[in-house]
Amino acid sequence: MRSLSGNVGGLDLQIPVILAAGILGTTGASLRRAALAGAGAVVTKSVGLLPRDGHPGPTVVVLEDGLINAMGLPNPSFRGFQEEIDVGRTGPAPVVASIFGSGSEEFAEVARSLKADAFELNLSCPHAEGLGAEIGCQPDNVEQITRAVKRSVDVPVWVKLTPNVSDIRALGLAAQEGGADAVVAINTLRAMAIDIQSGYPILGNSFGGLSGPAIKPVAVKAVYDLSGVLEIPVIGVGGISDWQDAVEMMMAGASAVQVGTALMGGYGVFQEIARGIASHLDRKGWTMEELVGLARRRVA
Ligand code: FUM
Repeated sequence: MRSLSGNVGGLDLQIPVILAAGILGTTGASLRRAALAGAGAVVTKSVGLLPRDGHPGPTVVVLEDGLINAMGLPNPSFRGFQEEIDVGRTGPAPVVASIFGSGSEEFAEVARSLKADAFELNLSCPHAEGLGAEIGCQPDNVEQITRAVKRSVDVPVWVKLTPNVSDIRALGLAAQEGGADAVVAINTLRAMAIDIQSGYPILGNSFGGLSGPAIKPVAVKAVYDLSGVLEIPVIGVGGISDWQDAVEMMMAGASAVQVGTALMGGYGVFQEIARGIASHLDRKGWTMEELVGLARRRVA
């Protein structure tokens, strides 16, 4: 397989296919397993300053073409999580700690207190009061929080953006202004499912965030828009199930992709996607540089 290795957002990746936050990133053992299976990097479940139980169940609704989750950022706090990161870091891929907080100070404190290869700022969870997208939908907050974390750590900082806004480019530009090394697009779309027998919302939290194949076209457009205005790399996430989806996301402008829901098919997905991208490049006679952002150049 031709080499797809390169530096994306300040991290050296063997392949540009990364384990997305929240999927199998709860324990060091599962992070390490994803790394050993060939992931280019692995992102942890989001952790914050204090332990949180998360939302009451049910927390997941399985749909035909995706999932709605309302986990509510359950986590043991950063204090209980460093040892999981340490186990994850015994694997062959960089470990990116996904962190959340209620504002700059909390984000900076959590980042300062953890040792990881990079941080991903969760400014985009759509269903946690006072956290995630509730603060991350304001460009000023995104810039301020990114800057505060950048000043507190000496490793790369990625910012995961919410698509639940009228123009995601303003958030990307704010992250870039705050010093982000990359943006990650997109987190889940606000969504809801109702039981038609009882009339009750199915999720304990009533609403949650939609992920999976259903949101891929939204993610492709967000990546396309962001890569058109940013100088920092865009990492694409949302509904990537196979190498064709990854190639499409890269043509939209993603320098790397993250996979989440597709992990339901097993850990082999990282290498399968990388092999598919490499073969497609070989067949077409393209380089990675030629692939990334090709759609924009086609219509220019
Ligand atoms: O609740 C959760 O843990 C999900 C977080 C997210 O969507 O970012």
